[in-house]
Amino acid sequence: MRDMMITLTVNGKSHEIPVKPNETLLDILRNHLHVASVKATCWQGDCGLCTILIDGVPIKSCLVLAHEVDQKSVTTVEGLSTEGKLTKLQESFIQNGAVQCGFCTPAFILLGYYLLEKGKQLDRKEIQHVLNGIICRCTGYKQIIDSILSASSNI
Ligand code: FES
Ligand code: FES
Repeated sequence: MRDMMITLTVNGKSHEIPVKPNETLLDILRNHLHVASVKATCWQGDCGLCTILIDGVPIKSCLVLAHEVDQKSVTTVEGLSTEGKLTKLQESFIQNGAVQCGFCTPAFILLGYYLLEKGKQLDRKEIQHVLNGIICRCTGYKQIIDSILSASSNI
């Protein structure tokens, strides 16, 4: 299959990337750009661990073909902090004991960031609803929800 060139901005940096018609955004992020925080487990939209933001909206990157994101902007957790300084939300995750493992935490933080960026009053139910897209069977979601609520009250 022939490659096509796409231009993709990842965490503020523009990349010209040759992609195959059947390659996913997840393939590109992990295999071409080596973005470590974007995890791949199910490759079929179930686990949510490959969640990233496309133009600010959370999307499971295994479900998106790379050529569909030509000229778009992707944010991963690496793109949230500036000059090594963690965001309020990341600090809140640490303070509330919500940093669980390296597989799920980046996706949870991105969803929390998305909710905070909406700038409206959040409640536990709404946060829970959005976090449903990410499966963690190891612990509870309580600390994660607490972290997002606490960051939202500090904005
Ligand atoms: S790898 Fe994308 S949802 Fe599981
Ligand atoms: S998947 Fe990360 S703690 Fe369960």
